[in-house]
Order: sequence, then structure tokens, then C-alpha cells
Amino acid sequence: MVEFRAPVGTRDVLPPESARWERLVALFAGQVERAGYGLVLSPMFEEVGVFERVGEGTDVVGKEMYDFEDKGGRRVALRPEGTASVVRAYVQHRPTPPFKAWYTAPNFRYERPQAGRFRQHHQLGVEALGTDDADLDVEVVALAWTVCGAVGLSRVTLLLNSLGDQACRPAYLEELRAFLAGAALCDEHVTTFEKNPLRVLDCKREPCRVATEAAPRLVDRLCETCAAHFARVRAGLESLGVPYTLQPRLVRGLDYYTRTTFELAGEALDSAQNAVGGGGRYDKLAEALGGPPTPGMGFGLGIERLLLAADAEGVFPLPALAVDVWVIDTAGSTAAIGLTHELRAAGVSADRSFGGRSMKSQFKSADRSGARLAAIVGAQESAEGTVTLRDLRSGEQTTVGRSDVVKHVQELLQ
Ligand code: HAM
Repeated sequence: MVEFRAPVGTRDVLPPESARWERLVALFAGQVERAGYGLVLSPMFEEVGVFERVGEGTDVVGKEMYDFEDKGGRRVALRPEGTASVVRAYVQHRPTPPFKAWYTAPNFRYERPQAGRFRQHHQLGVEALGTDDADLDVEVVALAWTVCGAVGLSRVTLLLNSLGDQACRPAYLEELRAFLAGAALCDEHVTTFEKNPLRVLDCKREPCRVATEAAPRLVDRLCETCAAHFARVRAGLESLGVPYTLQPRLVRGLDYYTRTTFELAGEALDSAQNAVGGGGRYDKLAEALGGPPTPGMGFGLGIERLLLAADAEGVFPLPALAVDVWVIDTAGSTAAIGLTHELRAAGVSADRSFGGRSMKSQFKSADRSGARLAAIVGAQESAEGTVTLRDLRSGEQTTVGRSDVVKHVQELLQ
């Protein structure tokens, strides 16, 4: 028989680990909803064009996309990231701006799997559309920073850059191309730098790193409007006490960015895959997807990376998963069915053993479960219409009338 396994580069997240996942999503939802962001659910796949528009020249879209023809002959792709989908939804439905959305969703990238890099990863993200106010950039960057703090991460560095706009970037790109022509670049970029010279700045390979050490920096070539925008973003972050490091090499892995871009580097993680999140402004994306001119700004945090960083820092532990009460029925009655049902209906978490196990085995399960109380129905309780409540830590126990169980349990749990 074939034993199936999860596809390479994907992971099953089982309890109890999944409880951390749930807690993280709830923490994120709490933070961003407090800031006026509402949940958006969009399809896991889109017409391939939606993603092609956001970066045919990038690895994420050009090389790593899970795209295929469906049974109706349409070319579709599993989403490699969330921004394009949310902006496509915005363009389609035209909600009143500013439109502030958050999401939690899987993304698919056919990458070479390694520690912290998966073919299916999950992001928590926000997108805010409809204003180019620099204060929004501050809000979004500060939110990402606050979420990391709320998770308990302290070894995270916020890297900040501005990629300019259509007024100042083209001239800079020309200057960069001229600088790179004739430079000893890595095998890949020596042939591709003309097409997308910014990628060379982001290249981790030694030749590119060395060759670009003295490369001109876009932050030094920003037009007046972009420079003023960036100055306000920086001042805003400073006024909030959000520490950042200027990183003129930060170009990000998608093509839609304009002006503010940022990344959160988890210093406790292996440096090759240490971005716990990233984002920025994308003021031309809505138009690229057929919509009206609509500036936007957002970020995505990698759930797997956040949890890896949390492990590396020893924070955000597994929450206790134990139920409050373990119901033990050794009389073979229907007490376990009724009691667990009643307790749960009253808001008390309760569980039980199945399969008519021995008393010893049921007590063992109760201990293993970590429950605070056992509600026991043996032959005597069954005959008397009572239930014995035992504190599984102290061993103290009392016997109460069957109809008073919920009340007593609630008192004992307080
Ligand atoms: P991204 O930088 O490609 O940005 O991904 C965001 C985060 O997702 C990364 O910082 C990382 O934590 C996580 N991530 C990405 N790829 C993988 C992978 N293969 N395995 C594990 N984790 C991964 C975006 O996707 C943009 N949509 C972010 C954004 C939103 N920009 C504006 N709005």
C-alpha cells in the first residue's frame, strides 16, 4: 500500500501546535480590527493575469507560481501572495475608500523548500486602499511592528526604504543600469540586470553584493514629493517610538511597490529566511488591475516565520489546551453522554473517554488530559442519582445531586 504524505514543502499543523496558530490569528484580528480593518475573504486562485500584472519579472510570479489550465480551459493560478487578490476584489466591488482590509490565508510558491521556506505558507496581512497620505504608511508599518511586539518578539529589526515613484524612479534606474554595466555581477544578473536592475541590489550572492557596494541609492534620488512623503513617514514612526533602520538596498520581491517599503527581520532566525514580514505602498496597482487610480499600502506577516521567531526567542508558548472537566462513567449508563452535553451547553469545557473503558483507564485519560475536575458516575452514584466531583490536583472530592452538577462545577472552577 502507498503511504501518502503531505506534499513537499507543505506541513500539517496539528493540535496542540495549531492552538498557537489560532491564538496568533486572534491576536492579529484583535489588533487590526481595533484599527478599523475588516476581514476580507478572497479566492485561493485567480485568473493568472491578476498576478502577472503584479510582477512578471519577479521570481514569485515569473518562476514560482502554481499556474495551470482548469477543466474549462481557463488559465488560473493559486495565489502566491495576498495583495493582488485584495486589490482585484477592490477594483471589482469598488467599496467606498478608504478601504481597510485584513486577511489570513495560504499562499503558494514553488520554491526550493528549506527551513522557514515552504511551498504553502500562510500570511496575516492588511491592505488599505484609497489614500496616499503618509500617515497611513505610518499606521500600517506601526501595526506590523505592534503585532510583532504583541507576539512577544523583541529581536525584530524594522528595515525601511523608499522606492520612489514614476517621477523619480526611471531616471534612477537608468543611472543604476549605467553603473551596473560592466560590473562583475553574479551569473544570473549579469544577463538580467538591464531588465530589472533593482533586483541586483537585493541579490545575496557575493559578486553582486561587492559590485553594488558603491551603487547609487534611490533614497538619494527621490523627487521632492517622494522625499517629503518619506520624511513624513519617518517623522511619524519616530513620534510613535517605532525604531527603524534605513535600508537603501531594500527592494522587495514584488514589482508593484512605490515609495515606502519595509521589512521586519527576525534576528533570532537563520539569516537566509529571516523576514517575518514585509510590505509597502503600491500606488499604481489598482490601475494595473483595470481600476481607477487608487493608492494603497499594506503588509504581510508570515505565520510560520512568526512562530519560528517566537520559538527562537522562547516567547508565545503553546496555550494550555486542557478541558475543565473529564467525565468518567464506570456504570455504563448514559451519564457521560448527558453530563458532557450539559456542561458544554453551560459553557464549561468537558470531554470523556469512549469505548466503555475500565475505571482505571478512564482515570488515566482524565489525568493525561490535564482537566481540573473529574465528574464521576460509578454504580453507587448511578443508583443514588448523584455525581462525585473530584479535584484532580488535590484529590479532594464531594458528591452532589445530579441536577446540581453544573452549578457545583462552576463554583469549583472559579
Ligand atoms: P512577501 O515579502 O513576499 O510579501 O511575503 C510576506 C511574508 O510572507 C514574508 O516576509 C515571509 O514572512 C512570508 N513568506 C513569503 N514566502 C514564504 C515562504 N515560501 N515560506 C514561508 N514564509 C514565506 C508579500 O507577499 C506582499 N503581498 C506583502 C504586502 C502586502 N505588501 C503590501 N501589502
